[in-house]
Amino acid sequence: MSSPRLQLKNLKVAYGQSTIIRGINLDVPENELVCLMGRNGVGKTTTLKAVVGLLSPEAGSIIMNGLPLDALTTSARARAGIAYVPQGRDIFPGLTVWENLQTSIVVKGKTARSHVDWVFELFPALKGMLRRKGGVLSGGEQQQLAIARALLLDPKLLILDEPTEGIQPSIIDQIEDALLKIKEEKKMSILLVEQYVEFALAVSDHFCIMERGSIVKDGEISQLDEKTIADYLTV
Ligand SMILES: Nc1ncnc2c1ncn2[C@@H]1O[C@H](COP(=O)(O)OP(=O)(O)OP(=O)(O)O)[C@@H](O)[C@H]1O
Ligand SMILES: [Mg+2]
Repeated sequence: MSSPRLQLKNLKVAYGQSTIIRGINLDVPENELVCLMGRNGVGKTTTLKAVVGLLSPEAGSIIMNGLPLDALTTSARARAGIAYVPQGRDIFPGLTVWENLQTSIVVKGKTARSHVDWVFELFPALKGMLRRKGGVLSGGEQQQLAIARALLLDPKLLILDEPTEGIQPSIIDQIEDALLKIKEEKKMSILLVEQYVEFALAVSDHFCIMERGSIVKDGEISQLDEKTIADYLTV
């Protein structure tokens, strides 16, 4: 068996003196989708920031394809195949949709150019708004654009932080369809942070639930039952 795409081993992360992530273990298998769940403020985004290199862990290790990432900068991790769509969407509001996509093409060149048609198949709506400024798009359209930019980088590991947050249902459905198609093609692993349970159930292979910086429950998504949802997820 191949090693998991991403492994977190006893990962601890602190802001100054206060430890937020208290020694978590998490595996993202190759070409599968793991959903990190939990209520507001439990440490989901902090975990992702450590994976992409925006925060240095206090202890533990982050391993991709069997190799530790610790010594790599954020941009080196991106070159190693990690693409990150942060919470709250990360686009350039003053650039057009096409120019936003170009920022990935500049980084990835031919590879990104060869993925443009694929990305438009996943998010057909974007094709009709290429000349529009990113800043005038709806929240959902901006989220699609942010994911499209990440996909053009042809990542091995796609990291999404609450892609459905504050987004209209019709676009949530489109993002769900896109993730299901990506999974069918079996070309990348996905670490998703999500609080919207129906969405998580629809797209995930595995779940793990955080509470106050620890993972309190994990398993196959089919094992995520009503009681667990009530105990750890709903407000
Ligand atoms: N820059 C920071 N400095 C100090 N504490 C922080 C900082 N960022 C986050 N925290 C604290 O770390 C804890 C975890 O925050 P984090 O953003 O990881 O939670 P989250 O699970 O992503 O929450 P949400 O679902 O609301 O996005 C919170 O208590 C938060 O207040
Ligand atoms: Mg968060």
